Amino acid sequence: MRRIDTISKMQTYSRNTQGKGKSIGFVPTMGYLHKGHLSLIKKAKEEADVVVVSIFLNPKQFGPNEDLANYPKDLEKDLKLCRSAGADIVFVPSEEEIYPAGFSTEISENRLSEGLCGISRPVHFKGVLTILAKLFHIVLPTVTVFGQKDAQQVAVVRKMVTDLSFPVEIIEAPTVREKDGLAMSSRNRYLSKTQREDACIIQEALKAAKKMVDSGTLSIDRVVAETTHIISSKRRMRIIYISMVDRVTLEPVKVIEPGKCLLAAAVWVDEIRLIDNIIL
Ligand code: PAF
Repeated sequence: MRRIDTISKMQTYSRNTQGKGKSIGFVPTMGYLHKGHLSLIKKAKEEADVVVVSIFLNPKQFGPNEDLANYPKDLEKDLKLCRSAGADIVFVPSEEEIYPAGFSTEISENRLSEGLCGISRPVHFKGVLTILAKLFHIVLPTVTVFGQKDAQQVAVVRKMVTDLSFPVEIIEAPTVREKDGLAMSSRNRYLSKTQREDACIIQEALKAAKKMVDSGTLSIDRVVAETTHIISSKRRMRIIYISMVDRVTLEPVKVIEPGKCLLAAAVWVDEIRLIDNIIL
């Protein structure tokens, strides 16, 4: 495994790799890797000849009152994990390399990114798309792998890739969960033991919703109400949204069509924001 820190060296590597007729699988990350990221690297290895992982804590996707300053970091551990998962290249650019003085270009998608997390995080997806557009130009990936936990991110990135004709295939890999069912996230490390116990209710509520649908309940109001009721039973939880949407367009759905709907939730566990979802 090789570490690359500059855009020019990364682009040279990618152009040479493409020149040899090899495909590039890409896993963009903000570091503090966990088993969820490792599963994305493994998926990228199955799909492409070489795997590039980027580690860049992207300030543009954090709002002014969000957790950028406290976001966990452990580059040495991340590099070891990337090596053990079989990454070929780890791209670790500095902030000055990515956003030099005078940087003034942004990419925004104005439909899918407006709802769900976009309501409470108005700058988030603009920041995500701006960094990904830049990384796609640097890494030149054939395929890029994202986790289903960030379902809105996947849908918004797919839309950018389609609208702007980026020559990259987007792959969505299943959410990896802790033993207690909590979706893996770098933010889980903020949770105390008791917050952690309460946070598990999110996955339990989503599973209960799926069970309702599987056993014939097709009323969106009833399914959303039951999910809300289960999550609210824990004192520490404050719901930001629980929404039933089309998995591709993220538009609210009027009827539940199994396999096509996403029940997505964002909640505060005290001051820690978590998201999760389930396909119904
Ligand atoms: O999902 C993430 O970790 C980030 O949003 C991403 C895709 C690495 C862009 O900074």
